Amino acid sequence: ISPFAPRHLLSIADLTSTELTTLVRNASSHKTEIKSGSVPKNLLGALSGKTVAMMFNKRSTRTRVSTEAAVATMGGHAMFLGKDDIQLGVNESLYDTSLIISSMTSCMVARVGDHSEVADLAKHSSVPVINALSNDYHPLQTIADFLTIHEAFPSSSRSLGNTPGLGLEGLKIAWVGDSNNVLFDLAIGALKLGVNISVASPKGFTIPPAMLDIINSSTSGVSSPGKLTQTHVPEEAIKDADILVTDTWVSMGQEAEKVERMRAFEGYQITNKLAKRGGAKEGWKFMHCLPRHPEEVADEVFYGPRSLVFQEGENRLWAAISALEGFVVNKGKIV
Ligand code: CP
Ligand code: NVA
Repeated sequence: ISPFAPRHLLSIADLTSTELTTLVRNASSHKTEIKSGSVPKNLLGALSGKTVAMMFNKRSTRTRVSTEAAVATMGGHAMFLGKDDIQLGVNESLYDTSLIISSMTSCMVARVGDHSEVADLAKHSSVPVINALSNDYHPLQTIADFLTIHEAFPSSSRSLGNTPGLGLEGLKIAWVGDSNNVLFDLAIGALKLGVNISVASPKGFTIPPAMLDIINSSTSGVSSPGKLTQTHVPEEAIKDADILVTDTWVSMGQEAEKVERMRAFEGYQITNKLAKRGGAKEGWKFMHCLPRHPEEVADEVFYGPRSLVFQEGENRLWAAISALEGFVVNKGKIV
């Protein structure tokens, strides 16, 4: 085992607000440079001869493709290990698996069920571990989401002056739907960046108290954090919101609860009518991490002019490049 404890990215709570800002800014500048045809000097061959193990216990389109493409951009090799490929979960413990895989690779990117699984991998790993989605968090999604918001709401459009951050202070996100992994990291990021977030979810599907504590305490040291509010009334959350966001009502692993959940979330579908009734800001935008199902958002919104979803999806690539740069190439020094 390496004598140097590596730094992991398990949740946005692991980052200071400056580091989150830096990861988003780096993602943005790499996007511009790589799209114009050149790979930034510090990334060119930065993972050459290195392997990134991708241990995925659940399906994935965006996280898998963006991570593999990001590793390739930096000249490395991404080794995809699906749930039927390795001994983990069937014939071998997390502890043994973590020691072995980290002894042969430069990073583990893991998609798991219970968050303790990725936390355990990290605890015993000699290389950085990046959470590719757990039941509690989705940090790579959050980095891509704030890149998307940064692009859609350039700070100059609000009279906030020259801020050293992303200039998102004062924006309001309305999350209408299930209180899940994507929301938890988005909320932590929002509060760290001075963005307000209002969550509407049905009774029985609100943020669990322990998670609420984690989200609210992640603002310690942040000079003007955003505020989190919760309601059961979608219109209340939507009032004056700049960005409407939702996700599936049935996350991976919750399939047995589908019927109950469909019933509970009735009236939570995001439509133009709901946005109007709730009084969203005139220029409101729509975001969704995908995959999407029509019950949580109507086609008119999802495929409409306010939708940022495909830009948001593409931004997963730039977020992955930025995270691998910070945690693997620069060994956890986010600069
Ligand atoms: N948003 C997201 O993580 O998508 P995948 O499940 O397809 O990776
Ligand atoms: N909340 C969803 C996100 C998928 C990217 C899930 O956990 O299945």
